[in-house]
Amino acid sequence: MSRALHAKDAERMAQIHAASFFKGWDAQDMHAHIQKDLCFGHGRPLQGFIIVSHAADQAEILTLAVEPQSRRQGLARKLLDIVETELSDLGVDTLFLEVAEDNDPAITFYKQGGFVPIGKRPAYYKREKGRVAALTFRKGLS
Ligand SMILES: CC(C)(COP(=O)(O)OP(=O)(O)OC[C@H]1O[C@@H](n2cnc3c(N)ncnc32)[C@H](O)[C@@H]1OP(=O)(O)O)[C@@H](O)C(=O)NCCC(=O)NCCS
Repeated sequence: MSRALHAKDAERMAQIHAASFFKGWDAQDMHAHIQKDLCFGHGRPLQGFIIVSHAADQAEILTLAVEPQSRRQGLARKLLDIVETELSDLGVDTLFLEVAEDNDPAITFYKQGGFVPIGKRPAYYKREKGRVAALTFRKGLS
């Protein structure tokens, strides 16, 4: 079941984020996003979530993460669908995101979901050794 997230979800969001990224966001970070951004999740207990910021007719996916044992079951696809519907209702017509150039699963996911690459930001994400570029993607919402 997909649902809007609340303060009580912050701890679990941080756990999933830490299991998904080199540099995780903590529960306090999640609290701040729950206050100001669109945050949707799937499952009880939470299995995955998406955070999106929006202003006027544009929006940006700030993060999307599914716990490792629940991947490839269509959860990220469901979360993207719910967020796109919500954004369209809010009058948003363009959705952006940035993804690390070494993140093949996410790049495949977003391309499969209709996002097109529009740019590259060099040395954007930190890694244990050095930095990698971010690829910027865009999708028009009808
Ligand atoms: C990227 C991520 C969110 C995908 O979540 P998911 O729930 O496994 O994705 P879905 O099951 O909805 O996948 C939908 C489609 O995306 C593509 N896809 C997803 N994961 C993939 C992978 N590891 N390899 C290749 N294609 C993949 C496939 O086309 C898939 O359809 P299919 O399973 O029918 O082949 C998940 O791997 C994750 O949390 N990764 C770590 C965090 C991250 O990188 N987030 C994105 C950057 S913000």
